[in-house]
Amino acid sequence: MTKGIILSGGWGTRLRPLTCTIPKTLIPVMNKPVIERQILLLKSAGITEIILAVSVMGDILKNYFKDGEKLGVKIRYTDERKPLGTAGAIKLAEDFLKDDNFFMLNGDVILNFDFKEMIRAHEKLNGLGLVASKIVDDPSRYGVLMVDKNSNKIIEFLEKNEYRSQEGKKIAMPINAGVYLLESDIFNYIKPLKKISIEREVFPKLAEEEKLFHYPIPGIWKDIGKPEGLLEGNIQLMIDILKNSKEQKKNLINKSVDIEGKASIHPPVTLGKNVVIRKNCKIGPNVIIGDNVYLGANAEIKETLIYNDAYISEDVKLEKVIVSDNCLLHKGAQLIGNNQNLVILASYVEVSENVCLIAPSNHSLTVCHHEVVKNSIN
Ligand code: GDD
Ligand code: MG
Repeated sequence: MTKGIILSGGWGTRLRPLTCTIPKTLIPVMNKPVIERQILLLKSAGITEIILAVSVMGDILKNYFKDGEKLGVKIRYTDERKPLGTAGAIKLAEDFLKDDNFFMLNGDVILNFDFKEMIRAHEKLNGLGLVASKIVDDPSRYGVLMVDKNSNKIIEFLEKNEYRSQEGKKIAMPINAGVYLLESDIFNYIKPLKKISIEREVFPKLAEEEKLFHYPIPGIWKDIGKPEGLLEGNIQLMIDILKNSKEQKKNLINKSVDIEGKASIHPPVTLGKNVVIRKNCKIGPNVIIGDNVYLGANAEIKETLIYNDAYISEDVKLEKVIVSDNCLLHKGAQLIGNNQNLVILASYVEVSENVCLIAPSNHSLTVCHHEVVKNSIN
């Protein structure tokens, strides 16, 4: 039986301060942790024996998923004392995975495709490994795949910074999407208890031996490793879910949402359980709000994620913002990001009345958990 291993042991440094209190893979995407969405995708392909390769903040993950019973799968965990790299991490699960082939996933990617189709492709190609691929316009932040179009063979696997396009131009290329279907022979390529990267030390060797293939995945794909990717990935998934909904909905609004008077909602918008919206709010497009969130009168919100239990007072304006759980924004606060850079509040942040936070043009403006922002930054 095909099993699954999901990697969730990195530091998530590029997403700080969101990852100061929870591991990256527990960050909600459309109001559910990105890793939980992956577990559910595995489950719908019949894969119910899953091991999480945890390291940094592993206890938080163990506490969240426990033995997996709530999700209807069996979850266990590796015991990785300090990060062993992507190959070192799976080597610890060799005994659990060695009986058959298995899926290996980077726990920080948003996707929505049928894993069964990937199993079928692997059976046909009969390689030692099948790497899910996606063509992206700017491949520089990813592992790049040089492929043979006819056979789907990966001729060269070039991990981040190893690929140089001609004349330094950005050219769309197939990249490693961080989902693999691997035969257990892979373990012969990994020495135990050593820090080893599967992307740098194992895949290039397999490509050389002509044992590695790629599978172009259908549908959406986004790595949430950077804040703008997290916002964009949420929006992409919302649009995808709406597109696939039978009722042709424009928004995803929970039945329990309480809207006072007539709010103007510009699709697509997602509103979770027990959201309260006071009069004259303008919401959307591209807004995703979690459970138990209060929006005071005249609030204006677009291109923004708000996690659970946040309190947004009247006259607040948010654009290109991530508001984590339990934040409190007082009357008239204005938080404005731009195309590349967001305003990001970690958990339990308080923003005082009429404070204005404007993201600069070269980096996101971030506020650490439990801070109280009393002065404007712009
Ligand atoms: N257990 C464990 N131990 N997990 C780890 C470790 C480790 O030492 N290092 C990283 N991980 C986990 C991370 O938590 C994440 O889920 C996954 O492995 C990938 O690590 P990232 O740090 O997110 O890597 P990346 O996004 O820069 O690059 C990787 O993903 C790209 C696609 O998103 C590479 O696989 C690229 O080739 C790929 O294109
Ligand atoms: Mg990543």
